[in-house]
Order: sequence, then C-alpha cells, then structure tokens
Amino acid sequence: MASTKVKEPVCVTGANGFIGSWVIGTLLEAGYTTIHASIFPGSDASHLFNLQASANPNSTLRIFEVNVTDGEAVARAVEGCKGVFHIASPCTLEDPIDPQKELVEPAVKGTLNVLEAAKKLGVRRVVLTSSISALVPNPGWPSDKPFDESSWTDLEYCKSRKKWYPVSKTLAEKAAWEFEKKHGLDVVSILPATCLGPLLQPNLNASCAVLQQLLQGSKDSQEYHWLGAVHVKDIAKAQVLLFESPTASGRYLCTNGIYQFADFADEVSKIYPEFPVHRFVGETQHHLVACKDAAKRLIDLGLIFTPLEVAIRDTVESLRSKGFLKK
Ligand SMILES: NC(=O)c1ccc[n+]([C@@H]2O[C@H](COP(=O)([O-])OP(=O)(O)OC[C@H]3O[C@@H](n4cnc5c(N)ncnc54)[C@H](OP(=O)(O)O)[C@@H]3O)[C@@H](O)[C@H]2O)c1
Repeated sequence: MASTKVKEPVCVTGANGFIGSWVIGTLLEAGYTTIHASIFPGSDASHLFNLQASANPNSTLRIFEVNVTDGEAVARAVEGCKGVFHIASPCTLEDPIDPQKELVEPAVKGTLNVLEAAKKLGVRRVVLTSSISALVPNPGWPSDKPFDESSWTDLEYCKSRKKWYPVSKTLAEKAAWEFEKKHGLDVVSILPATCLGPLLQPNLNASCAVLQQLLQGSKDSQEYHWLGAVHVKDIAKAQVLLFESPTASGRYLCTNGIYQFADFADEVSKIYPEFPVHRFVGETQHHLVACKDAAKRLIDLGLIFTPLEVAIRDTVESLRSKGFLKK
C-alpha cells in the first residue's frame, strides 16, 4: 500500500500579513494539518479561518498572539513544530521616527528569538523571509554583472542615506547566518523582490501600495528598493518548496527577473493606459543589469514563475475590489 507522508506541524510568524496569509493558504492546500499562526497581538486573523474553511476544514489552525521581540511568547508559538516560516518583520517604506526601535530591533531581535526557540525546541528547518533589500543597494557590485545571491546590501551606503528598511533586513539576515554557523540550526533564506498579487488580508500592504501609487501618478522611482517583482503565490510556493527540499541551503533570490523600475512602469502603463502612470526617462536603478532567470536557484528546484502581467492584473483587480483603487 502506498504510504501518504504526514506533513510536519509548522509555525508561521507574521501569519496574517500579505505574504504570511498566502503561506498559510499554500500550506493548507499542500496538506499541512497542524499550523501555528503567530500574529501581532491584537491584530485581525479572521481571514485565515476563511482560508482554512475552504482549503481544509479538518486541519488545526492555532492562533498565537506574539510580538516577536518577546522570546518567551515566540517559544510558545514554536513549541511542537518541526518547521518555522519566519515572516514577521516591519515592512514599510515610510521613514521611521526611531529606526532602531521601529525597524531594526523587531527585525533582528525577532529573528534571533525565532532561531533560539527553534534550536531549543528541536525544529528541523527554519525558512527565513529576508528580502532583495538584503542584497541591494550594493554600489560595489560589478556594473556589468546581474545581481545574484552572493551580493549583500552596503550598510554604510544605506545608513548615510537613511534607508532603514534595507538596514533592518540586512542585519536580520546576517544575524541569522551567524546563528546558523554557531549553533548548527538548519536555516534557508528567501529573498523576495517587490511582491504583488491578490490581498487576502483586509489592510493595504507596502508593496501593493507601490503599484497603487504608481497608478495614481507617483514619480517615486524606487531607487533604493527595487530589483524586480514577483507574484505572492510564487513566494508562498517557494517557501514550502524550500522547507520540503532536502538539498535546499543558503540564500534564494525570488524574483521574476531583474529589470529597471522604469520598465515596470512602462509595462503597467501598457496594460492600464487609462491611469496616469509616470514614464521615467533613463535608468531608475543605477547600473542594474537586466536578467530574465535571475532566480536560477529556485528555478532549478522546480519553481515556475507567474508572468509579470498576471501579477500586475491580479493586484489591480484586488485593489479595486477592496476599494484601494478607484476606476
Ligand atoms: N512585500 C514585499 O514586497 C516583500 C519583499 C521582500 C521581503 N518581504 C518581507 O516579507 C515579510 C512580510 O512582508 P509583507 O509584505 O507580508 O508585509 P506585511 O503584510 O506588513 O506583513 C508583515 C507582518 O509582520 C508583522 N509584524 C511586524 N512587526 C512585528 C512584531 N514585532 N511582532 C510580531 N509581528 C510583527 C506585521 O504585523 P502588523 O501588521 O499587525 O504590525 C505583519 O503581519 C517581511 O519580513 C518583509 O520584510 C516583503
């Protein structure tokens, strides 16, 4: 008789955010039956139960209210799990008043709390959601070579320009690799580009707001925060793939290609000529070398990326249906 492999219990932090909600949905569809959903205390997780009801009503979805800077609360959510998807981290492109407190501390301390709990409680693998913001901006990178996973964001460059989000993601991922080296925990990191697609959560997240603002005439060139874009369902599938692939290790760039934000704006404008999309002249990202199969490591593991046009259309449809975009 063929054996059905039982999926291990897993914990997802940031479970009710944009990416977290998709990871929950993807895990449920993949047959995971015990999921610990860790959410920021007091935040709304009701949409996760709708996902559960449609994907697998017999599964167990337990909600844990956890500020990831609180190590004991993190440990309670991780206990009993064999895998952790650490997604919670402040994701905003707004300028913080206190960068250390608002961005850096939750990113770094949150990551270390998750890794410490995972090590102590016998977790098999942690999939860490890092970002292309831990890879770029890196002005020292050769100007004729497409970026790959060996690039790290230049911290001093970002600090001098007060770009605190890349600082927070870079310090968090570096801390994770140091922990892995010292304590021998199995960690794999995923570095998504600007993430688009349908919003499962009620609020508007930062990356879908980038497209919303572009459609409304914003001239922001995303100079320091852009490498390409990716559909949120591809990120969620990649996360599960990285957890389940025995050979997965190290960093995985997750983007459907590398190209200028100017090219993205052109594509959006072509699909939606009725919107006042700004047309950028020249390079929006200095010396960014275009590359179609930039996420070669994930492609080699079997991930097939959704076309950019689908990601754009899915986002716009969702923004419209939720009232975040008029017309
Ligand atoms: N979206 C992108 O384009 C993109 C690209 C690359 C990487 N990422 C990374 O992906 C992850 C998820 O981002 P997202 O796009 O899904 O944004 P999101 O919807 O804002 O999700 C972030 C989640 O983290 C939670 N969180 C923040 N600080 C926390 C804390 N101290 N304790 C507990 N929870 C906390 C937030 O809770 P509240 O909202 O309730 O505060 C939210 O649920 C982040 O690590 C982000 O850096 C995102």
